[in-house]
Amino acid sequence: MFVNTNFPKARRYWHNGAFHDWSEGGLHPAMHALHYGSCIFEGIRAYGTAKGPAVFRLPEHNDRFLLSADAARMACPHTKDQIADLIKRTVRENGLDSCYIRPLLFYSYGNLGLVPKACPVELFICAWEWGAYLGENAARGVNTLIVPERRIHHTQFNMSAKLGGVYVQSMIAGLDARRGGFDEAVFLNMEGRVAEGPGQNVFIVKGRKLVTNGRTESALEGITRTSILELGRDLGYETEVGPIAKEDLFGADEAFYCGTAVEIIPIVTVTDGSDPAGPRTKRVIGSGKPGPVVQGLIQAFQDAVHGRAPRYEKWLTHVGK
Ligand SMILES: Cc1ncc(COP(=O)(O)O)c(C=O)c1O
Repeated sequence: MFVNTNFPKARRYWHNGAFHDWSEGGLHPAMHALHYGSCIFEGIRAYGTAKGPAVFRLPEHNDRFLLSADAARMACPHTKDQIADLIKRTVRENGLDSCYIRPLLFYSYGNLGLVPKACPVELFICAWEWGAYLGENAARGVNTLIVPERRIHHTQFNMSAKLGGVYVQSMIAGLDARRGGFDEAVFLNMEGRVAEGPGQNVFIVKGRKLVTNGRTESALEGITRTSILELGRDLGYETEVGPIAKEDLFGADEAFYCGTAVEIIPIVTVTDGSDPAGPRTKRVIGSGKPGPVVQGLIQAFQDAVHGRAPRYEKWLTHVGK
């Protein structure tokens, strides 16, 4: 039994063909994924709409889930349709409206050599209520730290995949930023340009232009990012996908993080800690407050995900009863 009360637990999670009580668990300490991070996962959100909960961009998330499985040389025992169905069932089973959904595919118990030759691949799907990822105050804008460690390079790993072990780098950066009194980290890439946050993409705004980067800058091309590029164009902004130099970020009119967990969060300061031996310099972005462009995008995004904008209904998969 899991008794830690910190987790905003839900009713049941799905594993190996059945739903289990949230506080039940029985994984073996010798399971492969626990030792080597040999798991792949997705982060998905469902939102309350007038027609009940709807999952945001479910096919795109499931495509990425299967791509991640491939990147980890993992044979997924379920088809895309089966996974979609299980995700919808998990949301329904828990009676959730707006929630975060986490499918996780992992090498289980079989052997502990690095090559998981006798380990079955198993699937978990959990869903629970997960509110503001960076805290309730984050909507007022977050203070960020550029960490000295450079983001894993796109030539070292398929940046489109979400592989558990790779997130250890994100975990350490996130911890270091918070221990330094910041809200979140920013990674530079090996080339010294902006890569991404530990679990978020970065956008900058300059005049009427929105700029974000892509996989060749060692950033995961997030689904929220892609949606914002479309929303931004529909709102009349110019959009550009290309490198973001550190100076572009410092000199931006506005900047923000985006991702499934954080949604859209304004960045109001960036402290440059990229040189571990040098001084840390704090830069205020624009006015130091969430600007009109990011506020407009947040509104448009919230309208889309909650089914209030017919133009973006195409992004929603209704969970049904
Ligand atoms: C490293 C990283 N970058 C960016 C993102 C944003 O991607 P998405 O919008 O698809 O959630 C995520 C979250 O999935 C991430 O883990």
